[in-house]
Amino acid sequence: MFQNTKSLPADPILGLLAAYRVDSNSHKIDLGVGVYKDENGNTPVMRAVKAAEQKLLETQDSKSYVGPAGQEAFNHLTAGLVLGDSLRESLGARRVTFQTPGGCGGLRLGAEFIQKVKPGAKILVSDPTWANHIPLLGEAGLQIEKYPYYDYQQHAIRFDDMMQALQKAGPGDLVLLHGCCHNPCGADLDQDQWRSVTDLAEKNGFTPFIDLAYQGLGDGIDADSFGVRLMAERLPELIVVNSCSKNFGLYRERTGALTVITDNADATRAAASQIAATARGIYSMPPDHGAAVVTTILQDSALKQDWDLELKEVRERINALRSELVNALTAEGVDRDFSFIEREKGMFSFLGLSVEQVRSLIDDYSIYLVDSSRINIAGINHSNLAYLTRGIAEVLTR
Ligand code: LMR
Repeated sequence: MFQNTKSLPADPILGLLAAYRVDSNSHKIDLGVGVYKDENGNTPVMRAVKAAEQKLLETQDSKSYVGPAGQEAFNHLTAGLVLGDSLRESLGARRVTFQTPGGCGGLRLGAEFIQKVKPGAKILVSDPTWANHIPLLGEAGLQIEKYPYYDYQQHAIRFDDMMQALQKAGPGDLVLLHGCCHNPCGADLDQDQWRSVTDLAEKNGFTPFIDLAYQGLGDGIDADSFGVRLMAERLPELIVVNSCSKNFGLYRERTGALTVITDNADATRAAASQIAATARGIYSMPPDHGAAVVTTILQDSALKQDWDLELKEVRERINALRSELVNALTAEGVDRDFSFIEREKGMFSFLGLSVEQVRSLIDDYSIYLVDSSRINIAGINHSNLAYLTRGIAEVLTR
């Protein structure tokens, strides 16, 4: 059966993690996979998460099955985080939220659900987009097309080109948008641009599918949800997937949610039954621990406040690092303008290097980054900044 099985190359992002781990260079720097790191290069368990785990250890009295939708309390609270409490209430039974195994699980569950109700539906994704969007959505059967998004020369959004390409999307089509902190480029739609895309969706009837994986890492929980909330308020239909990997630091606990909004309560009830059956057929029900932690935090005002504070520290550290990197590159004598890095949001930006220059950073300097020259800003610290900027300066002169 397996004699003709072909080996595949390593995942373009997760493969870097494995290569970094076995690299013996003491100067090695991991700017690959998108995980937050502190000044010491650690990815700590957040304070509120530790406290919630302690509480759960003492109070949880059953590990019995929950069900395909996961915990109702988590779904209610996470919908509040994404939509804001008042919008969640005003949407009422037009909204349903399913706890999912991380953001990836939510994206796949959403895609499998669409595939059931509209097989082979077209989904337009930004060029570039997160590499894993393609298998997560495409292998469910959706037809992927791209819309222009990032101008690598100007380091800006190609908004006119994007809008023109989105004209092709109509009723029954989906448009994938990054809610905030665009992965991989860090360039986000501004509020006017969100309004324009919302107007277009309203006029032409396509359904936006928003991936909100970094809520809280750009400008704050509410600000990062501007586009999601605008669309949820104005449009008849919306799909949103949010992840708790980054904003709660729960990466390996696989904690996320899929929210579907339709234009009436009956359609939402029908959608919920389809989503439940879909989840049951793939993984039956999502893992509980991460969602139990998030629920515990969001139900406890002191824990919630501390979580919010630590998330603010994370966000501010990343934003400060953006400026420090730009200044350090200038101080190193690099004459290319890197100031766009300061304007971008979240964990990622492109350095704008060629694949050869990226290979050289990896092979000659043990500085790990994605082929596209995407770096995880959070992997920078004061001990590795000088080595990093020297490496970048040197490969730029080759
Ligand atoms: C990333 O883009 O690095 C993160 O979203 C982690 C992942 O799973 O790829």
